Amino acid sequence: MRIILVLNPKGGSGKSTLATNIAGYFSLQGKVVTLADCDPQGSSRDWLSLRPKTHSLINGAVLKKEGLKIPDKTEILIMDTPAGLKDKRLKKFIAQAQTMVVPVIASPIDIRAAERFMKQIFSFKGTLNNRIKIATVANRVREDTLIAARLEYYLDTLKLPNGKKLPFITMLRASQNYIRAAEKGLSIFELAPSKTYYDREQWEPLLRWLSSQRSIPSR
Ligand SMILES: Nc1ncnc2c1ncn2[C@@H]1O[C@H](COP(=O)(O)OP(=O)(O)O)[C@@H](O)[C@H]1O
Ligand SMILES: [Mg+2]
Repeated sequence: MRIILVLNPKGGSGKSTLATNIAGYFSLQGKVVTLADCDPQGSSRDWLSLRPKTHSLINGAVLKKEGLKIPDKTEILIMDTPAGLKDKRLKKFIAQAQTMVVPVIASPIDIRAAERFMKQIFSFKGTLNNRIKIATVANRVREDTLIAARLEYYLDTLKLPNGKKLPFITMLRASQNYIRAAEKGLSIFELAPSKTYYDREQWEPLLRWLSSQRSIPSR
């Protein structure tokens, strides 16, 4: 089973937005997808409850004390995580997954929080380089702003502890399409292509990365 973690301890960075859209995409591709909502706020769970029966089925799982109960046939498990994860709990999430996507908002506060978060995970010896593939995504970007350029520069120059570049995959613009889709339990890939053309284009590098060996550690 493929496990994709969407994680950034900063609230409102776009974890649930990315998790639900990734789930929608792979489900449209015919994969058996389970979306695990590990956040008590329940955004992903709510999204699933809004999902129309007419669309591809996405299994839901909720994190309980006993752990996660996941349907056996799951091919891709997407884990939406809560804000504020650190230390042991953070390590536990990271240890479970093969792939981690970190959305970062273009704001000074979010960039600083991302800097601290990266420092923390880079200090987890042995957890990273070979065991999990991490990539960043700039989210809710208003193009041609100074802060977007600053975020792009920061993400583009981030290095892993081994000196290799940490992949910065794409920039997603701030778009009402995400909000429209979320209200209906859909992904942007299930809205009219003519209205979501630009967003789909921005997603293309992330979908390619997630579908390729580049996002899977060689064990
Ligand atoms: N690219 C985007 N464009 C517009 N709104 C966005 C975008 N990404 C997220 N949002 C909105 O921002 C809010 C926070 O996003 P969310 O995915 O819930 O973050 P998190 O799960 O990290 O707390 C939500 O209302 C969501 O709809
Ligand atoms: Mg969330």
